[in-house]
Amino acid sequence: MRVVVVGATGLIGSLTVARLRDHGVEVVTVSRADAVDVSTGQGLERAVSGAEVVVDVTDAPSREQTVSTRFFTATTGHLLKAAATAGAEHYVVLSVVGADRVGSGYFRAKAAQEDLARRATVPWTLVRATPFHESVEAIATDGIRPDGVHVPPLLMRPVSTDEVAAAVAHAAVGLPQFGVLEVAGPEELRLEEATGELLAVLGRSGPVVADTRAPFFGAVVGEQDLLPGPHAHLGHRTFAEWLKSR
Ligand SMILES: NC(=O)c1ccc[n+]([C@@H]2O[C@H](COP(=O)([O-])OP(=O)(O)OC[C@H]3O[C@@H](n4cnc5c(N)ncnc54)[C@H](OP(=O)(O)O)[C@@H]3O)[C@@H](O)[C@H]2O)c1
Repeated sequence: MRVVVVGATGLIGSLTVARLRDHGVEVVTVSRADAVDVSTGQGLERAVSGAEVVVDVTDAPSREQTVSTRFFTATTGHLLKAAATAGAEHYVVLSVVGADRVGSGYFRAKAAQEDLARRATVPWTLVRATPFHESVEAIATDGIRPDGVHVPPLLMRPVSTDEVAAAVAHAAVGLPQFGVLEVAGPEELRLEEATGELLAVLGRSGPVVADTRAPFFGAVVGEQDLLPGPHAHLGHRTFAEWLKSR
């Protein structure tokens, strides 16, 4: 089996490549370092030729809604065309839990990406992950204000990138689902509390402010919006374990 991983140098991409190699499949890596640009389609047809499976784990250069929507719409269009031309039998996309219900910011862009994949002629599978452990730090950094760190009050199941990559690799070697597989962390946490634990580990002072107007990846997110459904695959690595190892 020949699997092309697009976004192979990324956080999830590099781990997915390793997991796929563990499955014994032939992996072709694609990123701009390989002179392939999925935004323009440059070099893509050649890179994807001979692929049985195409895995999209790219990410946009910004969380801003217009920029990320432009990125995911262009890249998915180019990738689907190249996958169809190559005669690929399976197209796997990594998306985010909440793409179907958070109507703004980066989530809107991921919904546009999902819509294109659903309409693909190549059989497809969507893997939706909850926010990675690392995203708590990204949100905290975005939320720094003179009076403290502002984060939206919401529930989440932060997940390990390694467990997300394992789920993506598992989906890629399996049959197309024509549907959504969810992967999530083992425990439900409040973002405000997780942020407080992170700041303590970083030795930073200052209060965490629960702020309903604070954005999450450029979006207005409701308290339950980032929780997966009842059939999600739950990983094992806790946020506390990640904090200890970072
Ligand atoms: N962060 C979260 O909490 C979270 C949660 C759920 C799902 N996700 C999803 O996970 C996916 C992967 O995220 P990540 O953090 O692993 O991303 P990342 O580390 O930023 O990696 C992005 C990858 O995309 C490649 N890429 C970007 N622009 C490209 C272009 N124009 N042409 C070719 N390759 C390009 C990059 O390669 P080069 O720069 O080397 O070209 C890199 O390999 C995203 O789609 C995101 O929506 C994220």
